[in-house]
Amino acid sequence: MGKIGVGLVGWGTVGCGVIQTLRENAAAIEARLGCGLELMRVADLDLARERPVSVPRERLTTNAEDILQDPEIKIVIELMGGLKAARALICSALEKGKHVVTANKALLAHEGNELFGLARQKGVSLSFEASVGGGIPIIKALREGLAANRITKIFGILNGTANYILTRMTDNGLTFAQALKEAQGLGYAEADPTLDVEGIDTAHKLAIASALAFGTPIQFDRVHTEGISRIDPIDIQYADEFGYRIKLLAIARNVDGRLEMRVHPTLIAKNHVLAGVKGAYNAVHIEGNAVGDVMLYGMGAGMMPTGSAVVSDLVDVARDILNGTPGRIPPLAFLADKLEHIEIKPVSDVKTSYYFRFLAFDRPGVLSKISGVLGNRGISIAAVIQKGRHADSVPIVMVTHEALERSVMEALEEIDKLDLVLAPTTLIRIENGAD
Ligand code: HSE
Repeated sequence: MGKIGVGLVGWGTVGCGVIQTLRENAAAIEARLGCGLELMRVADLDLARERPVSVPRERLTTNAEDILQDPEIKIVIELMGGLKAARALICSALEKGKHVVTANKALLAHEGNELFGLARQKGVSLSFEASVGGGIPIIKALREGLAANRITKIFGILNGTANYILTRMTDNGLTFAQALKEAQGLGYAEADPTLDVEGIDTAHKLAIASALAFGTPIQFDRVHTEGISRIDPIDIQYADEFGYRIKLLAIARNVDGRLEMRVHPTLIAKNHVLAGVKGAYNAVHIEGNAVGDVMLYGMGAGMMPTGSAVVSDLVDVARDILNGTPGRIPPLAFLADKLEHIEIKPVSDVKTSYYFRFLAFDRPGVLSKISGVLGNRGISIAAVIQKGRHADSVPIVMVTHEALERSVMEALEEIDKLDLVLAPTTLIRIENGAD
């Protein structure tokens, strides 16, 4: 039984997961594939650092060219991360007729359309299961398992770090900074945690998943993105009183031929499955017109789960090599010439329910003033909480029925100018709210 040569660029956390999976599961992989996958070279600029998984010295190199120039290496795994150097490596590999497997969601979100074009031109694969949802086979589900469907909506939790932070803040009362430090220690966070906590990593993943779901090119720059760094623990408590948890959700849906793509902290009912997704777990809820609702759940980050996704791509690519069918399945699920530029809705056109926290003087008439402004804009209140009686200020917290975001923004601008209102109002959108 032969072997297919593989080269790995980037011996970091996920790289270690790939090496360990290839080693531990070699027999199972060979039994599925009919041949072995041989990790011939591993390239990294820093070979001295302590790692949980070792590599024989003769297989290590600091020069990725050693992998690109090796004719025995048919598949290059790009796990170096970042944009410029990773792009150059992937382009060189594709140009040389090598297949590429990557976990680089940032690069794909920015330049995936061009890179897939190059792969197609060269008749090779560019695979990316590990780029969305860590170990969960979301890409495969959207591309193959749900190929019979028109997808109407995908929404879920796509960042392990942000979900870990919100879980620890909600369940254990940790501060944002404490929880972030823990997540970094566990190896979930990106090198720059801003990508995790400001929703950008989630937006990268949503842009990629939406392209596969809706048959559109990747449109990362059109994703409305807000992060969790400004979530106040008090909002976690009030959300709880209304029967909600706060999650960083990625939401994409096709509404009358226009696409909504947004990432923001979101209130979701405590009894919704997504509300129970804790720690570094990710989950995606997909609605298909034939299948109905599908939920995918699993570890969204970490060495072994993400390594599992990379190795599953290796198996797929190796199968296509053995069968002489590289590029058998279009990377974005739809044929390249059938991808449609679907218009993306501005967030001001979105209709959803809202949570507001106002800080106002505790005076008679304040609630009626606020509700008057909301009423004038057609925003209907579903529930209100006003706690305590203070000499100075009091939080007034409410949730609304579904309303148009443009009207909400106009109403809040007016409310925040009222003399009785003491601070800018906190707004958090609600998914699957009262309507
Ligand atoms: N930083 C990412 C996360 C890693 O926390 O989900 C997986 O993409």
